[in-house]
Amino acid sequence: MHASPILVTGATGKTGRRLLNHLARRGQAARSASRRGDGGHVVFDWHNPATFAPALDGARAIYLVPPAFVEDPSDVVAAFLAQARGSGVESVVALSSMGVAFPHEPQDSGRRNVERAVSESGLRWTILRPTGFAQNFSEGFLLPAIRQAGAVASATGTGAVAFVDADDIAGVAACALTEPGHAHATHVITGPRALSFGEAADAIAKAAGRAVVHHALPREGMAQLLQQAGMPADYLEMILRDQDAIREGYGADVTDTVARVTDRPARDFDDFAQAAADVWAVR
Ligand SMILES: NC(=O)c1ccc[n+]([C@@H]2O[C@H](COP(=O)([O-])OP(=O)(O)OC[C@H]3O[C@@H](n4cnc5c(N)ncnc54)[C@H](OP(=O)(O)O)[C@@H]3O)[C@@H](O)[C@H]2O)c1
Repeated sequence: MHASPILVTGATGKTGRRLLNHLARRGQAARSASRRGDGGHVVFDWHNPATFAPALDGARAIYLVPPAFVEDPSDVVAAFLAQARGSGVESVVALSSMGVAFPHEPQDSGRRNVERAVSESGLRWTILRPTGFAQNFSEGFLLPAIRQAGAVASATGTGAVAFVDADDIAGVAACALTEPGHAHATHVITGPRALSFGEAADAIAKAAGRAVVHHALPREGMAQLLQQAGMPADYLEMILRDQDAIREGYGADVTDTVARVTDRPARDFDDFAQAAADVWAVR
């Protein structure tokens, strides 16, 4: 156990919040970062470099969640990691995405550039490439439509995804941050079985005791929906690329990373849905 803290960016998000619990259980000092700076978080904003130094001060490692809705934040990530190295940080565990390895991904995509910035940072690095989070349905962008309309929309057709529980991603991150054996490793993180969005909707319906259906939209329909939600055009294109890949069958891979790294089996989507059922209740 180290006295110098691990800086957890994205600490109010799906994985960062859970990582703080994992680190606390290990007795590992952590510093949580958020743009708001309330609730014990240090102020940290990717768009305000003046917040970097106080967040990094005395930290020995970083959990890095790139800024939301920015297609290519690699310049700011590289600048931040250079500053981190200068301030004595030794290692970084960065949250990326399984989508980086889809054949649809351009060589110079923002996500690939971020991974390059991490692996060329001079720090001991680990990259996490999770598939779609189960919590997108219970805490993320899919929740409002499930609550209000019993609907999940995607352009993934019948393509399957081994949705992963954010707590399992956090568990892998905690191991990578505190145990040896993860230097210069890229971990592809999935749940234990692949299911289509329709099958995920069925599992949620069963757990919540209400009708929940999947609307399999054409690509253009999905683009319109994301545009209406205010998503930047280049980020939207990345989401649609991922959905194209899933529709074409590239998203169904299952890995044993969670069990292998954490010594605990990856959580099944049905278990996740049972535990989260209350959030989908009709109010
Ligand atoms: N969701 C998925 O299915 C999925 C799958 C694979 C990979 N990923 C990757 O995981 C990452 C995050 O996932 P998510 O979309 O589910 O979000 P999330 O981690 O649940 O939430 C985003 C976090 O980022 C922080 N944040 C946003 N903008 C920031 C800024 N300008 N400066 C500092 N912090 C900022 C937010 O904190 P505050 O608001 O408190 O500042 C929040 O804690 C993304 O890079 C995404 O590509 C997601």
